[in-house]
Amino acid sequence: KKVVLAYSGGLDTSVIVKWLQETYDCEVVTFTADIGQGEEVEPARAKAQALGVKEIHIEDLREEFVRDYVYPMFRANTLYEGEYLLGTSIARPLIARRLIEIADQTGADAISHGATGKGNDQVRFELGAYALKPGVKVIAPWREWDLNSREKLMAYCHQHDIPVDFSSKKKSPYSMDANLLHISYEGGILEDPWAEAEEDMWRWSVSPEAAPDTPTYIELTYERGDIVAIDGVPMKPHEVLEKLNTLGGDNGIGRLDIVENRYVGMKSRGCYETPGGTIMLRAHRAIESLTLDREEAHLKDELMPKYAEVIYNGYWWSPERRMLQAAIDETQKNVSGVVRMKLYKGSATVAGRRSDQSLFDESIATFEDDAGAYDQKDAEGFIKLNALRLRIAAGKGRRQD
Ligand code: ARG
Ligand code: SIN
Repeated sequence: KKVVLAYSGGLDTSVIVKWLQETYDCEVVTFTADIGQGEEVEPARAKAQALGVKEIHIEDLREEFVRDYVYPMFRANTLYEGEYLLGTSIARPLIARRLIEIADQTGADAISHGATGKGNDQVRFELGAYALKPGVKVIAPWREWDLNSREKLMAYCHQHDIPVDFSSKKKSPYSMDANLLHISYEGGILEDPWAEAEEDMWRWSVSPEAAPDTPTYIELTYERGDIVAIDGVPMKPHEVLEKLNTLGGDNGIGRLDIVENRYVGMKSRGCYETPGGTIMLRAHRAIESLTLDREEAHLKDELMPKYAEVIYNGYWWSPERRMLQAAIDETQKNVSGVVRMKLYKGSATVAGRRSDQSLFDESIATFEDDAGAYDQKDAEGFIKLNALRLRIAAGKGRRQD
């Protein structure tokens, strides 16, 4: 029996390696990915070896993550519950896919992960796994074992000779998750929704108050809905996001503090830093404002909350996500041009936008003299016919208040 484990190299997943070997008497294959969490992944190799793991997979998935998951999601201007940029949610389908591919490659029949039984992540990993390999077995140790406190975990380590320095550095008081799109914080003092996050919790951004007093201007070049260059320098998707994270973080952009509804039914309070993503969302709306047809844009906006929910709830590998993606991608074929952004003390504002595909027509929009394409007299009939049903109702004495 063989199981592929999503292994971070940290204390929790190291305990899981041992626990799987013992409880299921199985061979554990580890999978560790660099998706831009900002921690070295290579040390996971020696740690896995020390735990007796023979098949160790370590991969740099940063490019694939941003190109095939983050970029497609941003074409929809995706926000969950109006605010959350889905930084954790969007990384899970990729991890699920690689777990299954490695299972197939190594002849494993099970996968395992370190997500708890109370969260969204377990749902996302497992829905993805089942969608890609219907017969796969899933082992979720946090739902099975009773090592539900720090003390019990440490005791387990001592009993099983797991080096405790596997707990990477000083244990943070928060449950965190980081990748190229965001870093998240949950738990600790944040469990009180009234308690303000401490300034030193935030790792990727300066506070808006401490940000530079002079604005930073950047130009983002779009091709078919995706950023392909910053200030005229062509970049790959993950390079774009890395650069925007730095620029955004330096200017105090992308902090968010929310209470959200988890798919499993509870509310949870989370803080997020998404500097690059926050800039991308604004800029993308700006380039779309020039290049999309009105009805196309409005319909796209109606689909967005559904698309966000599909991703948040873990249904990336589903027919409904593919269907929505096809519709969204279809709208992006003319979304090309340049957006000029101003980054200043926590805000990312649009300073200018231009496009060869622009539908904006100065000669029509102008408040100066009329050029002929738009006859103001036509507006009279337009309004009267649209008012017809309102006038009929009012004429019949229907209440209007
Ligand atoms: N609440 C966010 C989400 O569901 C973030 C989850 C963070 N995950 C974690 N393992 N700390 O997407
Ligand atoms: C977890 O429970 O593993 C983290 C939180 C979440 O997935 O929502």
